[in-house]
Amino acid sequence: MERKQISKSLFPKKFLWGASTASHQVEGGTFNQWTVWELSQASELSKSAENIYKDFPSWPDIKSKAEDPNNYVSGMGVDHYRRYKEDFDLLKELNLNSFRFSIEWSRIEPKEGEWDEAEVEHYRTYIQELKNRDITPILNIWHWTMPTWFTDKGGFKNRKNIQYFTRFVDKVAKEFCGDLEYVITINEPNVYGSLSYLTGEWPPQERSFVSFFKVYLHLVIAHKKSYKILKTVNPKLNIGIAAQLANIQAKRPHNVIDGISTKLMRYFWNWWFLRRIRKYQDFLGINYYFTDYYAGLFKRRNPKVPLNDMGWYMEPEGLYPILLRAFTRYKKPIIITENGLADHEDQFRRWWIEETIVAMERALSEGVDIIGYLHWSLLDNFEWDKGWWPKFGLIEVDRSNMSRTIRPSAKWFAEKITKL
Ligand code: BGC
Repeated sequence: MERKQISKSLFPKKFLWGASTASHQVEGGTFNQWTVWELSQASELSKSAENIYKDFPSWPDIKSKAEDPNNYVSGMGVDHYRRYKEDFDLLKELNLNSFRFSIEWSRIEPKEGEWDEAEVEHYRTYIQELKNRDITPILNIWHWTMPTWFTDKGGFKNRKNIQYFTRFVDKVAKEFCGDLEYVITINEPNVYGSLSYLTGEWPPQERSFVSFFKVYLHLVIAHKKSYKILKTVNPKLNIGIAAQLANIQAKRPHNVIDGISTKLMRYFWNWWFLRRIRKYQDFLGINYYFTDYYAGLFKRRNPKVPLNDMGWYMEPEGLYPILLRAFTRYKKPIIITENGLADHEDQFRRWWIEETIVAMERALSEGVDIIGYLHWSLLDNFEWDKGWWPKFGLIEVDRSNMSRTIRPSAKWFAEKITKL
């Protein structure tokens, strides 16, 4: 009797096992503020590649790609816009039952106030094709890309522009959300706000705390308004954001300064946004990639190994304390909306997923209500300012002929989830 209980799966029966993508990173043929920026920056980014990446373990392998300006242009993507049915069949082959994707605002509303009904139809069919395969669609409304008419007006920096976003949300709600179960309004406001407005790495490349704070605050408002719109259309909808949460720890646990840095970083990076929208979310979407150790005043001092292809220190089990903390704070069901690594040789992915499953089991056994895990990403995709060389896909894509090949780690994952 006892033994039976111990061997029982910790994962709930209807657990969402899935993968994530974002429109601009896979579709191809998009025209938004990123498309414009990529084209203007490609040459510059290729010239600075050596300086930035030469210490990465992957540098000898990625050098030729990273120094090629074409690497920095999303172009035809991985042609997911046209090949989505083939990709959904692959999801099935991987035994996955859910899929997160984003709606490309610039397709639906290419000109201010004018809806492109053919594109609306495209996404309607797209969602239907998922349902036909018994795959739960997890629709993400905004994954950082915007029509250029919106960014020309100042994007999310101007409070009065929120009305354009909510008009888009209203359209998405009415067209697609009537019988969906899960919707994400915004992906990683902290990452978007900081890289686009604080560090100046991403368009519009500002470096201003005031601009950052405005954008961050306006995204809070945008989410709350969107929540109300979506609930009016479908009261049963489960709504959340995809928050990038880091497992932030003190390098020297008893050091006072490390402790202060850790607490402040945790609050501002992980909780500030979520706290503001706590009454406006039905589930917590967590994107987990990083464990960071802080020593001294806000100095990151991570172990030197193991590193993924992008030079990110990998500690997959760091998901466990994040799950515990997030659940204790907000007491909402959790979906891991992104989790993964850039690993072109597929040497760490299986280990990463294995450790992640253990971390989830540990949290589940302690009562954390985890309802889904979506790996980032289904396909190799366009990694923003890094372009095409980082390989995040469960499925490898050869962009010369767009052929898809399931990576060995993904085969293992597909088999593993049938036993959980
Ligand atoms: C983003 C994705 C990105 C991934 C890997 C997340 O921060 O939501 O768009 O590709 O990380 O860098």
